[in-house]
Amino acid sequence: MKRPIAYIAGTGYAVPRRAVTNDDLAAQGLETNDAWIRDRTGIGQRYVSAPDETLTVLSTNAARLAMAEAGITASEIDLIVLGTATPDHLLPATAVEVQAALGAGRAMAFDLGAACSGWLYSAQVAEGMIATGMAETVLVIGAEVLSTIVDWTDRNTCVLFGDGAGATIIRHVRTLPRGESRERGILSSYGRSDGNLYDLLWRPAGGVAEPFSDAVYAARRQYVRMEGREVFKHAVRSMADAVDRALDMAKLTPADVDLMIPHQANTRIIEATAKHAGFDMSRVFVNVDRFGNTSAASIPIALADARQQGRVPEGTLVLFAAFGAGFTWGSMVVRF
Ligand code: ACO
Repeated sequence: MKRPIAYIAGTGYAVPRRAVTNDDLAAQGLETNDAWIRDRTGIGQRYVSAPDETLTVLSTNAARLAMAEAGITASEIDLIVLGTATPDHLLPATAVEVQAALGAGRAMAFDLGAACSGWLYSAQVAEGMIATGMAETVLVIGAEVLSTIVDWTDRNTCVLFGDGAGATIIRHVRTLPRGESRERGILSSYGRSDGNLYDLLWRPAGGVAEPFSDAVYAARRQYVRMEGREVFKHAVRSMADAVDRALDMAKLTPADVDLMIPHQANTRIIEATAKHAGFDMSRVFVNVDRFGNTSAASIPIALADARQQGRVPEGTLVLFAAFGAGFTWGSMVVRF
């Protein structure tokens, strides 16, 4: 097992004020019902942003909580990496707006696009930058305002997604208080992508290849499109690969893991992943029922939520596994 270089020092999350239940969606005229959504996905509600709840606002609120838990000030942050598919502006990165809002004047800041694997990839970039000596303290955020890019008339997709932000402070182990276990930190990291499958889950228009136009709006190509069944198959396969590889790299078995925190896409994917790895669901954290699929925000929101619930006491070995559009997937084993 490698000696950790970086550890997670603080977590926090923020969601919009308004929760929208499955019944609310049906009442708004969408041809769906609570039983279908719960049975197929496990989702009961999701949060939806108001115009003043931008990606910068949600990210900054989550970041402040993570910084408070880690006991650091904005001036100590060397790097901000923000995983998202829904930046406030296409130029510049939302990470710099978060930097300005926090007053993190010394930080390098950029966004990272890896869809639902956004936080996991960002955490891996943070670990790498810490390993090379370019950073000691990194703010890693996963955040989305997906409600602005889903088609609220398409029941195949809109019921699945939600808005929110999760933040983590990742630091070099040299900042650990004296006497803390040297075992604490990131024990393994694994990531993969497969761009051949990019159009199974994508947003066709809005980039430079297909700019917004009346024809785009008429065909509703500005919104997320998904081949649900195909995505499901690949998600189950990729999550299984992710779990196996991170454990192999850390020379651990599923029995060593205290808690798995998977990407919260839907309970059927999570249960299939747990079954593959031989995890009883009591060792798997699930909160998709309350938040829906918040893409890049899902794992850091779940981590912060799990910590608030007392599920991640000191010494806990956590396995993270993510899967997202691209496709992108990956995993991490972390000792808290
Ligand atoms: N309410 C009611 N009925 C619905 C709804 C809805 N919200 N959505 C679809 N249906 C209907 C369909 O129209 C279809 O009706 P039909 O038989 O009359 O044509 C029927 O339900 C079955 O549809 P399927 O798409 O075959 O349903 P399936 O069992 O495959 O479940 C689902 C659909 C939940 C989307 C599933 O495919 C899935 O979970 N896929 C993975 C999606 C996902 O998690 N994506 C994100 C992961 S990656 C990431 O996070 C970026």
